[in-house]
Amino acid sequence: MRDALRFPDGFLFGASISAYQTEGGNSNTDWWWWEHIAATPCSEPSGDACDFYHRYREDIAMLAGFGLNCFRFGIEWARIEPAEGEFSRAALAHYRLILDACHEHGITPLVTFDHFTVPRWLHEHGGFAAENFPALFERYCARAAEALGDRIAYACTINEPQGLGSSGWLLGINPPGHTDDREGAQRAVDNLLEGHRRGAAAIRSRAGIPTGITLALPDLQYEDGAQPGSSSLELESRVSDWFFELARQDDFVGVQTYTRFRYGPEGPRSPGHDWSDSTRYLVETDETTQMGYEYYPRAIGGAIRRAQRSCPGVPILVTENGIATSNDEKRIAYIDTALREVLACLAEGIDVRGYLYWSLLDNFEWALGYAPTFGLVAVDRQNFTRHPRPSASWLGTVARARALSGVAESV
Ligand code: BGC
Repeated sequence: MRDALRFPDGFLFGASISAYQTEGGNSNTDWWWWEHIAATPCSEPSGDACDFYHRYREDIAMLAGFGLNCFRFGIEWARIEPAEGEFSRAALAHYRLILDACHEHGITPLVTFDHFTVPRWLHEHGGFAAENFPALFERYCARAAEALGDRIAYACTINEPQGLGSSGWLLGINPPGHTDDREGAQRAVDNLLEGHRRGAAAIRSRAGIPTGITLALPDLQYEDGAQPGSSSLELESRVSDWFFELARQDDFVGVQTYTRFRYGPEGPRSPGHDWSDSTRYLVETDETTQMGYEYYPRAIGGAIRRAQRSCPGVPILVTENGIATSNDEKRIAYIDTALREVLACLAEGIDVRGYLYWSLLDNFEWALGYAPTFGLVAVDRQNFTRHPRPSASWLGTVARARALSGVAESV
């Protein structure tokens, strides 16, 4: 084993999930509303999801059994504050039990406070664009941090906030489903920036937890002569700069990427760049994934370097990286290449503290329903039985050894 293939002491290896995509029965949220309206773009409702709400113990034991040492999961605002200003002790106690299970198994827990959803009562007042969103989010973060903070290792305020304004107010692919509402999109983005600022301060002051934001960072590659365009992705990348500015004050920055997007003189040239084009989905080929993205596992290196340039000196955690595929060997090759990129970034002196694969479980992929399979573990949709794939024990073996094997990557 060459040292070049070894990760530093204390490096975190794990897997991520979100609350809404796995818990099931989150009927008090804007997404549940969205899935059930007549004009929904969702291919199916989330329903019971993976029933993680009841099966978290077996899932955490399973993750630890693979050899992983870190788990990112989410808490659902709509359960914790089911009506404005009414906090549920039972919901907070439930999340405390999940954290206890992590500690029992020696798993470092990273908790996301908001992953795309808002409670229904907040949705009725405008969701992320509601006038008092920052204050409401701050209060929720404070209450959750007071109740859970002593058990949380890392807190993430808002997941991938950069796309929430455009997907909900310009493209109409997320709730509230507005299109071309520039004012609404701008209000949502401003609120999310302020929400992160205030939420992170509340979490730090109540519980002193290292806190940050998790950013969607596709590897954007511009060829000679490429003109900066106005695709939704490029717009989003401008919004990312505002979040990077905030992240410079954070304790870590969460890096999340799945592919690259290339731009040439004639415009975008990668498959899957147009997020409003639903025909791109689920046509997996040797070159593309089930998301219609280019198979490009090296994207994580570009994303880490982009985060490092934008927030110099802020520690980096890869909080999501993965592939939707029906071929688990392709998944292993993807993670292998991605981890080699992480090692290359470490060798360049970048402070990367961990790698979390998305996702532990096959789960509800938003408007695409359950068709894309990202999981290290398959989930039987009839009875929720977990079926670990070979990639799960493969990644666990890497985690235990804290090293990749010397065998050259196959893709
Ligand atoms: C999101 C997840 C999603 C994953 C795969 C990320 O953008 O945080 O919720 O499931 O990508 O598409």
